[in-house]
Amino acid sequence: MSTPASDAFRYAHAHRAEIAWLSQNTNHLVPPEVVRGALEQAVRDRLYEGYPLGSGDPELLDLIARDFGLAGGQPFLTSGGTESLYMIMRALLGPGDEVVASDPSYLIIHKFVELAGARTNNLDIYAPPYRLTSDRVREAVGAKTKMILLIDPLNPLGSGYPREEVRAIAEIAHDRHLILLNDVTYRDFSDGHALAAEFAPEETVTVWSVSKNCGLAGLRIGGMIARPDLLGKIARFNTNDLGVNILAQVAARAALRTKARWIGEVVRQTRANGARIRDVVAGTPGMSLPVYPSRANMMVMDVAKLGVAPEAIQEELLKRHGVFVRAGNYLSPKHGSQFVRISFSNPPGDIERFARALPEALRTLRGAPVAAAPH
Ligand SMILES: Cc1ncc(COP(=O)(O)O)c(C=O)c1O
Repeated sequence: MSTPASDAFRYAHAHRAEIAWLSQNTNHLVPPEVVRGALEQAVRDRLYEGYPLGSGDPELLDLIARDFGLAGGQPFLTSGGTESLYMIMRALLGPGDEVVASDPSYLIIHKFVELAGARTNNLDIYAPPYRLTSDRVREAVGAKTKMILLIDPLNPLGSGYPREEVRAIAEIAHDRHLILLNDVTYRDFSDGHALAAEFAPEETVTVWSVSKNCGLAGLRIGGMIARPDLLGKIARFNTNDLGVNILAQVAARAALRTKARWIGEVVRQTRANGARIRDVVAGTPGMSLPVYPSRANMMVMDVAKLGVAPEAIQEELLKRHGVFVRAGNYLSPKHGSQFVRISFSNPPGDIERFARALPEALRTLRGAPVAAAPH
């Protein structure tokens, strides 16, 4: 029997030093010196003894505003993008409201929709082009629709939206007076990314994060950007009246000050790792990549034809090989039994461990020989 996800996480954290962490789209490629000096200085200065400025460090807010370049958009800090997502649903949705969303998706957002008494209308996107299209969104909008959820690039598939499709979806939001929630957590991994706020500035809330691009997931800092009137409505539900973690702000500031210097190499290595995983999957009969190349730092590996459950693959790779990938059920009610998600902003050695472990794990699980991955 496979282990529940919570047990997998307990096991992985207990063995953290030995685990190739390919399960949470985290980024282990940012040079550590980018934030180390700033954090060490902040600790020496004992900044943690006092509260931060409630509205956030002014330089950090300015760096975020410049990173996004959205004229008229006001940045706001929260404890990760996650907290912004919660506040947005709490503030803007109520019982009976509907949100046009997808399956697969980052389902924590859907949970927040439900907590507000609303529901998601999940369009099945586990088929080409593996993302929403403006035609399907237009068709799905009904009298109860209040919001469109546009995650771009999309976790878990790694698919992304061409500029013209973002524009078309933004125009639907504008014409139908809907909120457009544009979650751009993985934006820096994507070439030619377009922000929906460029096309529908009044209706769009852009949710950003430094967890993935800057490799700061453990510090829990992110936020949102919106026009002041919309942001004001959402900010009524702010619980961080006394500000967001001061060390997280120091690290985010240091990372964003220097991002232009190192993000190119992070993305290059991430893509090289993605190509290595593609070769491994190509050498594994029964396995395939629905979306390649990924526009993010994760993708899904379809295992439906393998005859082995994703949970069993997760468990075997984790417990016997120290390689942590994620079974699909956490990302898709409908297709979760068909795929495993893998993330790859990691040192190449982690990817090689996966390449060695996968054929062995599948051989064990099926009790039969499996073609070896190419080296
Ligand atoms: C689409 C998406 N949005 C938001 C988040 C949460 O980001 P944060 O760490 O800033 O809370 C994630 C994390 O995996 C994500 O995949």
